[in-house]
Amino acid sequence: MRRKVIAGNWKMNMLPNEAISMITELAPLVKDTENEVVLCVPYTDLFYALLTAQETNIKIGAQNMHFEEKGAYTGEVSGAMLKSIGVEYVIIGHSERRQYFAETDETVNKKIKAAFANGLKPIVCVGESLEEKEAGKTAEIITNQTKLALEGLTNEQVRNTIIAYEPIWAIGTGKTATSEDANNSIICIRNKIAEIYGNDVAQDVIIQYGGSVKSTNAKELFTTSDIDGGLIGGASLKADEFSKIVNYDK
Ligand code: PGA
Repeated sequence: MRRKVIAGNWKMNMLPNEAISMITELAPLVKDTENEVVLCVPYTDLFYALLTAQETNIKIGAQNMHFEEKGAYTGEVSGAMLKSIGVEYVIIGHSERRQYFAETDETVNKKIKAAFANGLKPIVCVGESLEEKEAGKTAEIITNQTKLALEGLTNEQVRNTIIAYEPIWAIGTGKTATSEDANNSIICIRNKIAEIYGNDVAQDVIIQYGGSVKSTNAKELFTTSDIDGGLIGGASLKADEFSKIVNYDK
């Protein structure tokens, strides 16, 4: 049985004092869940978030990392740096990074390898644009992104990669894919992984849905056959709303 992973993506929001208050408020609300609870916070919040989340079941992640270990890369943060302060997860290849910061399938692949080399768990984003969806290319785009992201990984690494299927047209727009469409896209991704790495591996990979997930639609999405939780942007900024998403099964 795959575990549900409910991860918040704060994007470029929340100052340290806001992060501390949110996590302090969230902790008692999610303490009894069996779902994995993750908050991916800005770099400047990481240390405060880690301290505040100590002794709770909330895991902390970053939203990006560089693929090199160290060196002359002004402004970048490496996997080793994240690991050294206790970060567990890292989002890689979010569509906003692909769109605004020239992230490519190749850099995504390098970053996933670097994440594993540093003992971090990658949450890898794939998803089609509105034009691609309307051209009937969703399956082709998302399976290709998945294949390129995972290229050269061992079976064990693939098993431990979390994939977030996030249709770009659904991010921050209030438009959600129907649970049936989202589930079908995720089945496509899982089938592709099965084709390359075998069905055993594919059945273990956690594949989330992301894009306008809220407390009011989480249950419908997360109780489908193949959606293993969510990557949640806007609705992860408030403890009360995010806790309801985490506790969708209560
Ligand atoms: P949203 O963002 O929940 O605000 O749509 C999701 C994401 O970008 O990860």
